[in-house]
Amino acid sequence: MRIAVVGGGSTYTPELVDGIARLRDELPVTELALIDPDAKRLGLVAGVSRRMLAHAGHPARVLATSSVEEGVAGARAVLFQLRVGGQAARDVDETLPLRCGCVGQETTGAGGLAKALRTVPVVLEIADVVRAVAPDAWIVDFTNPVGIVTRALLDAGHRVIGLCNVAIGLQRRFAAWLGADPARVSLGHVGLNHLTWERSVLLDGEDVLPALLREHGDELAESLGLRPGLLRRLGVVPSYYLRYFYAHDAVVREQRSKPSRAAEVADMEARLLALYADPAVVTKPELLSERGGAFYSEAAVALIASLLGDRGDTQVVNVRNDGTLPFLGDEAVIEVPAAVTAAGAVPLPVAPVEPLFAGLIAHVSAYETLALDAALHGGADRVRDALLAHPLIGQDETAEELTELLLTANQAHLPWA
Ligand code: G6P
Ligand code: MN
Repeated sequence: MRIAVVGGGSTYTPELVDGIARLRDELPVTELALIDPDAKRLGLVAGVSRRMLAHAGHPARVLATSSVEEGVAGARAVLFQLRVGGQAARDVDETLPLRCGCVGQETTGAGGLAKALRTVPVVLEIADVVRAVAPDAWIVDFTNPVGIVTRALLDAGHRVIGLCNVAIGLQRRFAAWLGADPARVSLGHVGLNHLTWERSVLLDGEDVLPALLREHGDELAESLGLRPGLLRRLGVVPSYYLRYFYAHDAVVREQRSKPSRAAEVADMEARLLALYADPAVVTKPELLSERGGAFYSEAAVALIASLLGDRGDTQVVNVRNDGTLPFLGDEAVIEVPAAVTAAGAVPLPVAPVEPLFAGLIAHVSAYETLALDAALHGGADRVRDALLAHPLIGQDETAEELTELLLTANQAHLPWA
């Protein structure tokens, strides 16, 4: 079985290889095709991937290529994990909005919009190649902004499921606190990608969230950068991306006083690539755990295993709303627990969502609709409308200024700008 990875030269790939090696009984991969336009990076990442698999006694061979067509041909699943413009473009996403007093983040707010504009057209082109040379393959999209990118791919008729590691990260954390195997813990996870709340935490079917919040609420709030007491008062666990909303101005102050995450990650990537170049490195380096994508490999392997193995188990994924959240259109993409079979992912029913969360979900979902429209059709007015619709921007003058700044900075990636 061939699994292909578009953006295979990413420093994240060894995370995935580690998952494939550890979970070989779940997913019998015989060939891992790594596709990347950057030959140097690809060479280093393919090298360490081969050594890791050999060290683990895993039989899969690694194909490294710059050709999407060659790498994807005959694949059963294709992972998208690319970053158009690399960390340099991300740095702009994270710093430009600060000039207007808005949060600088690669998936939330104006930075997320710029990323969507750069990414959607590229991803759609690659997906067309997948359809041509591997028509039965499932696309698993980890490429951000996952909600918008997944919707673009679904609208174009592709077989795709969007994936993020936020839910699995929390599930693992709760399981550790409960001293339980993660398989016994399931989340009442609801919202949009990078805009989610856990409204319940079931241990063997019983809700233990109130007890978890009593015992770990303050510690959890601190790690999410939120004020103690907020979680207990709301009775839910927001994802750390909610900090950009609930503590927006504090985040802007912080971001103005320190290097961007992109700069940090660029430095980490240089160190990771040096490790990947070292023939003595045959396992996933510890340094990789400092990246945001912890447990990404486990989520990806489990998702592909359920899609290909028709397992019907429940996983948190990005899928069409199709009536699950009645206050959104059917075509919206949401992030919720879904039953995953060979036919795809079907969202499980969701209990009515409280106005405190539903309001923000609806607001950001409307922004996502406009962001996708701008990414597909271009034009400064569409960009401005999307910014005006975003709850973290919303003001006409700010939207105008940011449109000008973002389009100028991203010209190299936007043929229409
Ligand atoms: C989490 C998010 C991903 C995001 C990543 C960034 O894993 O779920 O969507 O890409 O963080 O991590 P980084 O180490 O690049 O800041
Ligand atoms: Mn994510």
